[in-house]
Amino acid sequence: MDTIQVLDKTFKVSISEAQILKEVRRVAQEIKQDLDGKEPLFLPVLNGSFIFAADLLREVDIPCEVSFIKLTSYQGTHSTGEIREVIGLAKDITNRHVVIVEDIIDSGLTMAHMIETLKAHNPASIKVCTLLMKPNALKVEVPVDYCCMKIPNDFILGYGLDYDGFGRNTRDIYTVVG
Ligand code: IMP
Ligand code: MG
Repeated sequence: MDTIQVLDKTFKVSISEAQILKEVRRVAQEIKQDLDGKEPLFLPVLNGSFIFAADLLREVDIPCEVSFIKLTSYQGTHSTGEIREVIGLAKDITNRHVVIVEDIIDSGLTMAHMIETLKAHNPASIKVCTLLMKPNALKVEVPVDYCCMKIPNDFILGYGLDYDGFGRNTRDIYTVVG
């Protein structure tokens, strides 16, 4: 299906499952090379990164741990700019090599906030891994170590990303068309 309806909006396929998985594998190889032997701790940010994290981590076949964090800043198709932490850190990250796994970096406010919060716990290192990035939407500078794909400033959904809670369970990524 090339076009889908989610709530009041229409979306068209913009990134196919095959293309997504190719980029996820590429980034997984980079992470393996950088962090093999360091027993990294992956911190996927819920909800949006759950599918990405599942695919990515199965490709990063080195000894590692995973612990989820939950943050929200979006309402509908716009960032509220106000970040709420819903589930905090469940693991001690002191002296650990941490990899934040995010679905998308838009304004960058969520990631900037998260990096600052994590730094206070004295990890050995913090790396940022994102599925998607909208470089033209950035409002703050964010150090991105691994990025699967850069996209224009349009609202998208699928492969974990939602529109008001719906549309996360698609294999492809869709862009809003109307
Ligand atoms: P930021 O704080 O503006 O960088 O927003 C980051 C968060 O907003 C991401 O983790 C997503 O959950 C959400 N987000 C940003 N852009 C989109 C989009 O196009 N579709 C769905 N969610 C988005
Ligand atoms: Mg998110």
